[in-house]
Amino acid sequence: MDKLWWKECVVYQIYPRSFKDSNGDGIGDIKGIISKLDYLTDLGIDVIWLSPVYQSPNEDNGYDISDYQEIMDDFGTMDDFDMLLTEAHKRGLKIIMDLVVNHTSDEHKWFIESKKSLDNPFRDYYIWRKGKNGEMPNNWGSWFGGNAWEYDSTTDMYYLHIFAKKQPDLNWDNPKVRNDIYDMMTWWLDKGIDGFRMDVISLISKKPDFPDGETHGGLYGDLAPFCIHGPNVHNYLREMNQKVLSHYNIMTVGEATGVTIDEAIKYAGYESKELNMVFQFEHLENLISGEYGKWSDKHFSLVDLKKVMNKWQKGLEGKAWNCLFWSNHDQPMAVSRFGNDSEKYREISAKMLGTCMHMLKGTPYIYQGEELGMTNVKFDSLDDYRDLETINKYHELVNQRGVKPEKMMEYIYHVGRDNARTPMQWDDSENAGFSLGTPWIKVNENYKIINAKMQVNNPDSVYSYYKKLIELRKKYEIIVYGDYELLLPDDKNIYAYLRMLGSQILLIICNFSEDETEFIMPNNLIGKKGELLISNYKNDTDIDKMRLKLRPYESRVILFQ
Ligand code: GLC
Ligand code: CA
Repeated sequence: MDKLWWKECVVYQIYPRSFKDSNGDGIGDIKGIISKLDYLTDLGIDVIWLSPVYQSPNEDNGYDISDYQEIMDDFGTMDDFDMLLTEAHKRGLKIIMDLVVNHTSDEHKWFIESKKSLDNPFRDYYIWRKGKNGEMPNNWGSWFGGNAWEYDSTTDMYYLHIFAKKQPDLNWDNPKVRNDIYDMMTWWLDKGIDGFRMDVISLISKKPDFPDGETHGGLYGDLAPFCIHGPNVHNYLREMNQKVLSHYNIMTVGEATGVTIDEAIKYAGYESKELNMVFQFEHLENLISGEYGKWSDKHFSLVDLKKVMNKWQKGLEGKAWNCLFWSNHDQPMAVSRFGNDSEKYREISAKMLGTCMHMLKGTPYIYQGEELGMTNVKFDSLDDYRDLETINKYHELVNQRGVKPEKMMEYIYHVGRDNARTPMQWDDSENAGFSLGTPWIKVNENYKIINAKMQVNNPDSVYSYYKKLIELRKKYEIIVYGDYELLLPDDKNIYAYLRMLGSQILLIICNFSEDETEFIMPNNLIGKKGELLISNYKNDTDIDKMRLKLRPYESRVILFQ
């Protein structure tokens, strides 16, 4: 068992545009983040994952980068960034940057050059193909709607964009591209940043032939089989590791869309010499996806969720390290998706979810606002939405596939990315204390009852509960390093599991339902004296009894020595 700092830490994701605006232009910025570092220190987290702050025309809120070595004007300057890094380090906080290198913006100088002519030195920085019989090179659909190819008349060819057309895919098979990226990464690491979260890193290597994909009843062909975990992805990451990552004591985590256990071990196995961890998404989109992919209003089933979590907990045991997360900037808020965001159960279920995730084996990632129990949002009109995926998919599904507008709005309320992008709710003043100007996206109306100011000094708040979960991780090694064992796989309401280290056993019990339910102690724990480490209810029942009555969304963590 290798003890490593990035296994022991808790990561907090900041989506800068929505975190804190310092100058009243309605857009969160770096100075805003600096002003909230003490909040993060108080919460107790160790690492900040900063969503992109690089120069960008903001087609996809910074995930379309036009200059990797400049800061976005909206967010401030490089001096501001340096100050952020210094101030974070002063407080013992580390910062990992989002590395978006599957694609750039079409306004990046590489692309501007690449477009100019067939013999431009940057031509092969991107993926260009000739059309077929006056049509696109193949039938692939972009993940953000429409075709995955865009025509450019200058050279009468098409370029590939898995995401928006303003996000052309880089050609990783070109060694010059890779070396430029490695140089850029080295430049940031030499500045002193503490690692990278690598955006859609599983897509960087494409199969060399570009055949049509299956349409699965939709309008476009599926590019996934030709682009996910492509032929050279592991060679390139090993090269990146050898040339860059291995020279620093940093943390790396790859966003590995479509990853299986076996692939995850290739990316981030202890022997892999590629990355430290990968994000897998089976517990999110896969559990609800249907006819229109992730656009659905289906509810997850707890039995399925446990199956997926168990598979990852057991599958990586001793081989690789899990990322633990309920949400991020592309997903709905945790409490709305997995808990119950009604007034009655919001806080209690948010605490239960925190317990369930933080006691699993792996590194926990908190998405901003989750520690307050912030919820999804329902805007009446599509005009209030800002996310281009949401907007494009609305038009595609409503106009081309016959989904009723009301139904589509339900899908958006359920899974749309803007659920996670409404401004952070700092207090009950106008705009939730996020900005003195007009926020770039509307604030969730519930900020008067859900905000940091109300929670920070309230010992019973979701915030204080998260703080305690983080403290426990620092105090009990078993939470970080203990082995995992699922109990009651078929129970529809309870997610219970054990962690085991030496002679210690930690029992975690979470009621995912609003019904009272009963938990029967495993035989080997009956009669043993347990110590309650944390619970989301004031608890006075005996914990060494054979049966425990669980109240709605109740969770308990009990240590047996
Ligand atoms: C990742 C990001 C997402 C972005 C996409 C394209 O999935 O998390 O926000 O839109 O990649 O960069
Ligand atoms: Ca601002």
